[in-house]
Amino acid sequence: MSSGELVTVTIDDRDVAVPKGTGLVEAAASAGIEIPVFCYEPRLGPPVGACRMCLVEVEGLPKLQAGCTLTAQEGMVVKTAASSEKAAEGQNATLEFILVNHPLDCPVCDKGGECPLQDLTFRYGPGNTRMSFSKITLEKPIPVSPLIALDRERCILCYRCTRFSSDVAEDNQLVARNRGAHTEITTFESDPYRAPFSGNVIELCPVGALTSTQYRFEARPWEIQNVPTVCGLCSVGCNINATVREGKVKRILSRNHPEVDGGWLCDKGRFTYPHLIAEDRITEPLVRGELGLEPVSWDAALDRAEALLREAGTRTVTALSGTESVEQAYALARLLRGGLGAHTAVLPESTSDALDAFRLPLSSIAQAEIVVIVGDDDLADRAPIVDLWLKAAGRNGAEIVRYGPTGTEPTGPGGAAAALRALAGSGNELGDRLRAADRAILVWSGSGGGGGARLAEAAHALGFAEKPGSGAFHLPATPNGRGVATAWAAAADEDEANPEPIGLLIISGDRAAADPAVRALAERAEHVIAVTMFHDLAVGWADLVLPATSSLESDGTLLNLEGRLQRLRRTVIAPVPDELAWISQLAGRFDVELSPHAVVVFDELSAVAFGGVDGSELNGTAPLPARTPYEAPPPAAEVKPATPARPAAGHFLGELRLLRYRPLFSGPFVERVGELAFQRPPAELELCTADAERRSIATGDHVVVKSNGTSVELRARINRGLVAGVARVADEHAADLHLHVEVVKP
Ligand code: SF4
Ligand code: SF4
Ligand code: FES
Repeated sequence: MSSGELVTVTIDDRDVAVPKGTGLVEAAASAGIEIPVFCYEPRLGPPVGACRMCLVEVEGLPKLQAGCTLTAQEGMVVKTAASSEKAAEGQNATLEFILVNHPLDCPVCDKGGECPLQDLTFRYGPGNTRMSFSKITLEKPIPVSPLIALDRERCILCYRCTRFSSDVAEDNQLVARNRGAHTEITTFESDPYRAPFSGNVIELCPVGALTSTQYRFEARPWEIQNVPTVCGLCSVGCNINATVREGKVKRILSRNHPEVDGGWLCDKGRFTYPHLIAEDRITEPLVRGELGLEPVSWDAALDRAEALLREAGTRTVTALSGTESVEQAYALARLLRGGLGAHTAVLPESTSDALDAFRLPLSSIAQAEIVVIVGDDDLADRAPIVDLWLKAAGRNGAEIVRYGPTGTEPTGPGGAAAALRALAGSGNELGDRLRAADRAILVWSGSGGGGGARLAEAAHALGFAEKPGSGAFHLPATPNGRGVATAWAAAADEDEANPEPIGLLIISGDRAAADPAVRALAERAEHVIAVTMFHDLAVGWADLVLPATSSLESDGTLLNLEGRLQRLRRTVIAPVPDELAWISQLAGRFDVELSPHAVVVFDELSAVAFGGVDGSELNGTAPLPARTPYEAPPPAAEVKPATPARPAAGHFLGELRLLRYRPLFSGPFVERVGELAFQRPPAELELCTADAERRSIATGDHVVVKSNGTSVELRARINRGLVAGVARVADEHAADLHLHVEVVKP
């Protein structure tokens, strides 16, 4: 940690001034001097000195030192391999030792061409081998999980992967077993590495020991391009590089934005790209005819769309997914609101602008003294990287308090707003600590209850506006909910009408298409246009289907949960026209002038909605806008208290309140990637120990969950952290269940 004071070290006869506390590797790098490393990776915590690749000579010390374990000190004199024969010999010997059992299979190794071991051996290693005996050969590849393969012969035992598992993701699933030359990386009892962030170990591995099963043997480094963009799958917006070969996405890598993602990705962001080539991907427009949906030309599809729009006019309702870029949402709004006067929309959950007064980068969570989380959803399901920042805060000594059905302070579902009101009121002990702390963070992780607005009120009442280290984050359910709502609002001023009956329902995106509430609307609509990527989501109920693109196939902009605008880049050419292309064509038929180019649309939108921010400022790692003055949000609407579950009576054990959640590994993209199937939640119901005991239910039992005349059979699991009176079920297994359920053993 730097204090602002500088120290001067001499490295290879050059004086280098760095802030006190800077590591020697970073001090050297700041002067353009390389100290080569394998195991050193500051994001994994303190150095472990495992590989000895970083040997340097330090004046006054008799033996070579592991440079990665040293901190720059005033007056320190260091010689690297560039100026010290002893250091060069040490590194040469280290490499020779590492290569004793390392197979020389670079030509067939996935890491070949982008491998630190290969590169450093060329620069610092021996030019030939003295090995005259056979190397160890082992069974390979070992499946660490359906996503990760391990080639143990290539492992150099740097412990990056196990340190990530234990010290960053804290899932403790990847461990080193045995000792010395027999040490091997493994999972507990060889179970698959099942955790939200497992894929990061592939990127961390400095050799080809841990490889992605999706990427193995798919490409060589000299025939790929890495296209910088952002992940469009949740509201974090991690910065990524999409590896592209011959027009196909082959891999997703992190593109470290230190304030947003810290260089980590969740497995959903990393491994779902094969949805681009899903078998049921729609590649041409479909119109409902006598024989069902039939392919038609784009001209015919736009003719049909125009006719449906003219017929429905202002009775058109639009359901947006929150996965659209701001440009796509704005273009749709210009066409529908501007051209047609069709103002009614089902918008994804957004947040309150009042929160901008408490804006901070996500990375600030790691430095917090105290973090309070409210809401019904787990962070890892809603905005996974926030969970990693929170874990970092915990390791740095922060006090972490969670109000919610699985929290440290158990509250019933929907209790977030009440918890915040209590905190912000007078005489609350935790509230007083939040007021007193310089670096306090509030997080809302759940839907409903006025999220952003109530969070902003609490942050204001706790004095966060005056504390630059304190802030509040609302985690929306969709990747670009706020951006879409802002773009939709920017296109026209008129209030929303509420057309009944609905003449035409436009469903934009797969998330809306899979939403039961939108499907219910579709049943009431005279006609439906669905803009979707996948056949299964549209058959049966759409009159016209227009093929959609994925965020990996579009240029555009997303607004993340911090309020940071970030650039999406088209990484590959989609098999269908971009949304902006056909929306602008259709708009032309209604005399609305609209560019098909995202940059032009962004400039127009930015002038009205984003303070005229210049799109070119968003390239690279996008900045976070400054805080704005606090403006009180509209007060909360009167909320009727939730109906309590029916109490127990006689042999009837009472109903439980159904708590649905949307697991991280769910949704149309995940469903189309076979390797991710093992990460998806089982068809199970969670209940607390007391509720289970009263029903004589044990983990693993099959139970019948009944509500309102429907029933579903699930496997029970006792969740000791769950609040009483609640049955927790993943959305996809709770489709027909109502708010209160009865749980019985058959
Ligand atoms: S598998 Fe890779 S990251 Fe893990 S210890 Fe071996 S070389 Fe290091
Ligand atoms: S945390 Fe969100 S934005 Fe980041 S990789 Fe995962 S899904 Fe994508
Ligand atoms: S990089 Fe220093 S010991 Fe591995």
